[in-house]
Amino acid sequence: MTTATAQAHPNIALIKYWGKSDEAMSLPATGSLSLTLDIFPTTTTVEVDEALTADVFELNGTVRDDDAARRVSTFLDLVRAQAGTTAHARVTSTNTVPTGAGLASSASGFAALAVAASAAYGLDLDEAGLSRLARRGSGSASRSIIPNVALWTEGDDATSYAREVPAPTIAMVVVTLDAGVKHVSSRVAMRRTIETSPFFPAWVTSTRTSLDEMVAACAAGDFTRIGELTEANALRMHATMQGAEPAIRYLSPASIALFDRVVALRAEGIDAYATADAGPNVAVICPPADAERVAAALRETTDALPGVNASVLVAGPGPGAHLVDRAG
Ligand code: PMV
Repeated sequence: MTTATAQAHPNIALIKYWGKSDEAMSLPATGSLSLTLDIFPTTTTVEVDEALTADVFELNGTVRDDDAARRVSTFLDLVRAQAGTTAHARVTSTNTVPTGAGLASSASGFAALAVAASAAYGLDLDEAGLSRLARRGSGSASRSIIPNVALWTEGDDATSYAREVPAPTIAMVVVTLDAGVKHVSSRVAMRRTIETSPFFPAWVTSTRTSLDEMVAACAAGDFTRIGELTEANALRMHATMQGAEPAIRYLSPASIALFDRVVALRAEGIDAYATADAGPNVAVICPPADAERVAAALRETTDALPGVNASVLVAGPGPGAHLVDRAG
């Protein structure tokens, strides 16, 4: 029996991944770029056990027998195929993301699982190999393998993985909102966007251009340009999916109020820029020295909204997924 434990953190994209060119291989229509955070880690232990007749998946103390468990098993099948074994495993995972926050838990989840499972099954993968493997679980997980700022390139199975790129230190103020918004999975939403939104081709071309500009702005340490590109790209992603039929709208009135507050902060001279993923939560990037001031302003905004239950946390650049323990 071999056991390995790994830890990974969520990442939030500054240039988004929205749409696949190949669903089975989880290849993206465009590249993307993200910040790995230092909050909300996922810790996952994989125990390969010849005596098991099926995989067992336990999340936050509850054994699951649902889609999440099936996704874990399908992912382990990839690892087993590479390792040349059919042995099942017990996967025990602890997620520290607040329940229902919908904050990129699949990214930290599959990044931690890729590192723990590959070690437990005896695969010797380098960072690129781990990123390619994590990508198969959830596209954005390819970026949580990487510390700090990660660029995940488009390409084929062999070339589409994430790597670290030079960037200034970016702080991120994460606002999780409990707005009771109905959830459409990113997989379903991406497919519907590609099939029905007339804006999708423009999304692809503009994202490619913005990504090149973003990599250059990161290398130059141009925080203002990084922020402008981040906010524009997020709003374009949401506009593109709002063009689908039926429309997909993840942003809630509280999300919009936060975007507005960030515009007001800029008018006060603070270099703050907002982004949001497939849910109502809003993440705001700013220079680290301004993070507490930005957090206070965003708290004031959400406190004034009736019926909104928000938590506001300041995050910084986090580590890539890594092994924390290995035995057997
Ligand atoms: O990795 P997935 O399939 O959960 O897709 C993530 C999509 C976004 O979070 C909205 C954008 C991104 O680049 O992370």
